[in-house]
Amino acid sequence: MSGGLVTAAYIVAAILFIFSLAGLSKHETSRQGNIYGMTGMAIALLATILGPDSSNVGWIIVAMVIGGAIGVYLARKVEMTEMPELVAILHSFVGLAAVLVGFNSYLDHGAVPMDSVLENIHLTEVFLGVFIGAVTFTGSVVAFGKLRGIISSKPLALPHRHKMNLAALVVSVLLMVLFVSTDSVGLQVFCLLIMTVIALAFGWHLVASIGGADMPVVVSMLNSYSGWAAAAAGFMLSNDLLIVTGALVGSSGAILSFIMCKAMNRSFFSVIAGGFGTDGSSTGDAEEMGEYREASAEDVAELLKNSSSVIITPGYGMAVAQAQYPVHDITAKLRARGIKVRFGIHPVAGRLPGHMNVLLAEAKVPYDIVLEMDEINDDFTDTDTVLVIGANDTVNPAAQEDPRSPIAGMPVLEVWKAQNVIVFKRSMNTGYAGVQNPLFFKENTQMLFGDAKASVENILRAL
Ligand code: TAP
Repeated sequence: MSGGLVTAAYIVAAILFIFSLAGLSKHETSRQGNIYGMTGMAIALLATILGPDSSNVGWIIVAMVIGGAIGVYLARKVEMTEMPELVAILHSFVGLAAVLVGFNSYLDHGAVPMDSVLENIHLTEVFLGVFIGAVTFTGSVVAFGKLRGIISSKPLALPHRHKMNLAALVVSVLLMVLFVSTDSVGLQVFCLLIMTVIALAFGWHLVASIGGADMPVVVSMLNSYSGWAAAAAGFMLSNDLLIVTGALVGSSGAILSFIMCKAMNRSFFSVIAGGFGTDGSSTGDAEEMGEYREASAEDVAELLKNSSSVIITPGYGMAVAQAQYPVHDITAKLRARGIKVRFGIHPVAGRLPGHMNVLLAEAKVPYDIVLEMDEINDDFTDTDTVLVIGANDTVNPAAQEDPRSPIAGMPVLEVWKAQNVIVFKRSMNTGYAGVQNPLFFKENTQMLFGDAKASVENILRAL
């Protein structure tokens, strides 16, 4: 394939990527968006492999077959609840790839003589690419660990953590100046290696310092970092399409992070700077909160029969228990009795955006009774019974009542304003953010302990 043809193919691929992003921005066109993205990527891969800059195509194909097989296997096996983990670990690969490309590009370029300005530009690209890649790599590994529950979701609050972050940045800038200005290869390698170690530790610390409640923003932020890492790799490899694609991913990830921060009433700067400016010291103590009451499935069935309006607020526990099908049946049964049933969906309920909507749609719950938090929050006061099914952080009044809580200021479903609240969960354990929930101890709340699916099925039988 000639260079001109490769450039033309790259332009087509870049346009398809832009169409893909446009398609993915709406539910109805998201499938089409995916198809545009896949077609663009196929064209990009073919043009790159068959282009004039590639050699050893046989090896590339072997690597692609192995990588593709692992990808297909993982994507088929992954549960909906594990999706954010998969995305996080995939971001870590992009970061690692940028680090490797950076080292390779540094080692490789020595053979080709360059003029000094070009040389400086190249060295800066290498340094920045490795830095962004290393931060993305360890940051994504920690995000993966937190989402999977291998690493605690509580923020790691080391003393002087912000000063340490600042010191890491300042030292890295100084190393970059030295790396670009020195002629000694030994000193350059030293600067690059020390910066890599600092960047790996910085990425790790940055994400470890962010609490579980901000994790959705972190995942989209790492998405953005992985884009910039890819763009940096594009500069090093002089590959225009990689620069364009990286910039698209980087900026769309940043815009998504910003939108999420706004929706959750978080400061964008505070989240990206590793929890900067948050106190997050009060996680609540169950013993101080008093007594809670327990209900049986029969009690709840009786309560539902005597209600005229019911709101169901599902969360991560409904997804784990796969309780959406009996939830659909209960909804149908109550509606057949003339009871008004609606769903209230928090923007970060579950573990990925739209998680609850997808589960309810899967169980064929009618769309028109599934409402967003903003649409339903004023209606709790006039509601007889709220069923909180496997949700915790998203219905926590501490967000409004305790300014020292890690989730302070985050908008929540105001379920406690209803006449009766039933909370379905297995224990008194905290939710993802690791914060105790005062809702469980309110006078109008009763706990229904057990697996959410079994509990809903018991209620269904009692009805
Ligand atoms: P959580 O606060 O995580 O609470 C889920 C509750 O479900 C837990 O308290 C757990 O209590 C219960 N549960 C788990 N398995 C259960 C089962 N089989 N049966 C019954 N109950 C079960 O969930 P949420 O209210 O949906 O809030 C989501 C949280 O995840 C937020 O903090 C959010 O920031 C974070 N997050 C969201 C996303 C996105 S984008 N949505 C991504 C990453 C993280 P027991 O253990 O006592 O049963």
